[in-house]
Amino acid sequence: MRSIIALLLLYAYSANGQVFRPSLPGILSIVRFQNTACNGDNGDTGTCLTETDCNRRAGTAIGPCANGFGACCSFKFTCGGTTNQNETVFVNPAYPRGENGTDTCQVTIEKQPNVCQLRLDFEEFTVAQPDEHGLCTTDSFMVRTTVGERLPILCGENGGQHIYIDMGRGSANPVVLSVVSNGDRVTRKWKIKINMIPCNNLDMAPSGCMQYYRSPSAIIRSFNYGPKIENRSRYLSNLRYTACVRVEENFCAIKWETDSPNSFSFGAPFSSNIKDAQFGNYTELIGGTGGFCSLDDFIGIDQGSNDGVGPGEDRFCGNRLLDSNMVISRSKPFQLKVRSNADQSLNAANSQQGFSLRYVQLPCVI
Ligand SMILES: *[C@@H]1O[C@H](CO)[C@@H](O)[C@H](O)[C@H]1NC(C)=O
Ligand SMILES: *[C@@H]1O[C@H](CO)[C@@H](O)[C@H](O)[C@H]1NC(C)=O
Ligand SMILES: *[C@@H]1O[C@H](CO)[C@@H](O)[C@H](O)[C@H]1NC(C)=O
Ligand SMILES: *[C@@H]1O[C@H](CO)[C@@H](O)[C@H](O)[C@H]1NC(C)=O
Repeated sequence: MRSIIALLLLYAYSANGQVFRPSLPGILSIVRFQNTACNGDNGDTGTCLTETDCNRRAGTAIGPCANGFGACCSFKFTCGGTTNQNETVFVNPAYPRGENGTDTCQVTIEKQPNVCQLRLDFEEFTVAQPDEHGLCTTDSFMVRTTVGERLPILCGENGGQHIYIDMGRGSANPVVLSVVSNGDRVTRKWKIKINMIPCNNLDMAPSGCMQYYRSPSAIIRSFNYGPKIENRSRYLSNLRYTACVRVEENFCAIKWETDSPNSFSFGAPFSSNIKDAQFGNYTELIGGTGGFCSLDDFIGIDQGSNDGVGPGEDRFCGNRLLDSNMVISRSKPFQLKVRSNADQSLNAANSQQGFSLRYVQLPCVI
């Protein structure tokens, strides 16, 4: 009996990347480390694997993990590369330094039979700002795929953003990501994590959702959201996508509110036309809804209103989200639709920023 316990207390690997290790004397705990995220010695993130697995999958060990039983394995690649590995990271060639020249950088993600979607996490992303029309004419990030919807062309600052890409069930075609950069007046840098989502998996985003949030509360920002740039619109032209929020169990409504006092400015109206008698200005920020918004320059929240009661409105625009910078909707599924057209001249003249909105799901009241 004594010798059996002593044996059990020995550390032991199993074939599939589990480590058996004693915590309290005589009690075994199982540390699973296969495929969990880890930090390398250089501060970079990787995937915890056995050293053998890391080598077999052509990764680079960047430090220990799982108390030294695993290798923190990094799968980084850059321009011209091809990957078929989960959790590969697409970086600019000089990463962690930036790039400044003219270049077309493409990488290919091969389709695996059991993978239906990709999730790209823009851990770092800085390229040139859009032009005065909100178009990505200097630098651009594009996704080429043969299935699903056309994804918008992105540029500017997009660190913290993510997108889902449909790979198709029947298709065998790869997805190509490209970053085109023009001129040396800008320093570009990117680090995009590629996650392969198996078919029929709960992690899949619902069809039609380019962004998917799975928490009771989070902040959703428009692409290139950031500090005002005078005479420039920060939000991009030609957007046509939906950000979806997974409805949590026992939640019935969703509240959308600005993350800071002026963190909504998307489309006309820009300000009231009431002249301030004392100061002579027209600066009061106002919001519009429904037919007061442009047909293709607004954010959409179905049946949104101040209190979430009644039919509400479904289009919101201007420099405020309703009067109170807050909208409640009971319409399910919870979605935020984003639409912008190619004419950004007035948005640019008004230095519009886009949106940074916090959503909070509200529990059902019996
Ligand atoms: C661009 O990068 C090159 C090489 O790193 C450097 O010599 C040059 O000064 C940079 N130019 C600008 C404008 O930053
Ligand atoms: C890729 O890695 C993620 C995170 O570990 C995991 O959830 C997912 O199932 C993996 N995808 C495949 C195709 O194995
Ligand atoms: C912005 O546009 C206004 C009006 O055209 C002009 O007076 C101002 O100088 C511009 N500001 C900048 C920073 O270009
Ligand atoms: C005009 O500017 C003043 C001072 O900044 C401000 O207090 C006032 O609310 C503004 N008027 C309008 C109509 O926005």
